Amino acid sequence: MNRVPVTKFNRHHNDQFNEFLKKLELQAIETAEERIPLYLRCGIKDADHILDVGCGSGIITRELALLTRGKVTAVDNSYDMIKVAKKFLKNVKNIHLQVGDGEKLPFEDNTFDIVTCNLVLMWSHQPQQIVKEMTRVTKTGGLVLASLEPDYGGKLHYPENQKIDPIFAGKAIQDKGGDPHIGRKLRCLFVQAGLNTEVGIGNNRIWSCEEDKAYYLHARDFYVKALENAGLNQKEIDEWEFSYLQSLDEGIQLNFFPQFYAIGKKP
Ligand SMILES: C[S@@+](CC[C@H](N)C(=O)[O-])C[C@H]1O[C@@H](n2cnc3c(N)ncnc32)[C@H](O)[C@@H]1O
Repeated sequence: MNRVPVTKFNRHHNDQFNEFLKKLELQAIETAEERIPLYLRCGIKDADHILDVGCGSGIITRELALLTRGKVTAVDNSYDMIKVAKKFLKNVKNIHLQVGDGEKLPFEDNTFDIVTCNLVLMWSHQPQQIVKEMTRVTKTGGLVLASLEPDYGGKLHYPENQKIDPIFAGKAIQDKGGDPHIGRKLRCLFVQAGLNTEVGIGNNRIWSCEEDKAYYLHARDFYVKALENAGLNQKEIDEWEFSYLQSLDEGIQLNFFPQFYAIGKKP
């Protein structure tokens, strides 16, 4: 995700930023069941010092802090995100927040027991450099964890729509600067950083139609903009939306795309 500047002079950016914060919050709630088992598997409870790279608004940083007896440091390269996170986390004692670039982490080698990131590599221009840096600051024997990185190439969806499906199977993410196929690259990124690596798929549950509908309505702007950018006119968008919502209300719609994780042990 690129930096999203917020200034009091630019209302459009403010609105976009606030929308993005809401999306992060919903995403964190919806994916907690996938992430928390990974944190527990990595031994978060007894870790002394954890680093959260690309912490965003801090919603996941708070979760990490509540799961450990140790302390959590979190960095994001967006000053505005760190400002939001500081406000949000002001009452959580075991968290330290600072602006920092995942591609050049401002920490000594071998500092942390666990270094984690969630939905960051997908938006990074240099994911290999981030994983390399995450590895450098992890203690020998410590763990690097990328908890959720999707792969839209593995998207399953029914009923099908020949025109719309390819847009949501990666094109919309690509147009926003993300890598829709980051999931399949995790093993390579981790192994090339010198980690003893295990990869897997974190989401083994298909969302209900009610969950899909709530998510769609929350992120509707993103979907509609993606369709506009792909050249669809208003009538086509309205028709698609009508049939999509109808299939959700009828309870027949199925959506799935894999969310990969990687756990790497530093030898
Ligand atoms: C999709 S958000 C995820 C935020 C948070 N991890 C979560 O899951 O709620 C991606 C975050 O990564 C940050 N980010 C992107 N590239 C970064 C980099 N090179 N260094 C640090 N943070 C970065 C962005 O500013 C943004 O806050």
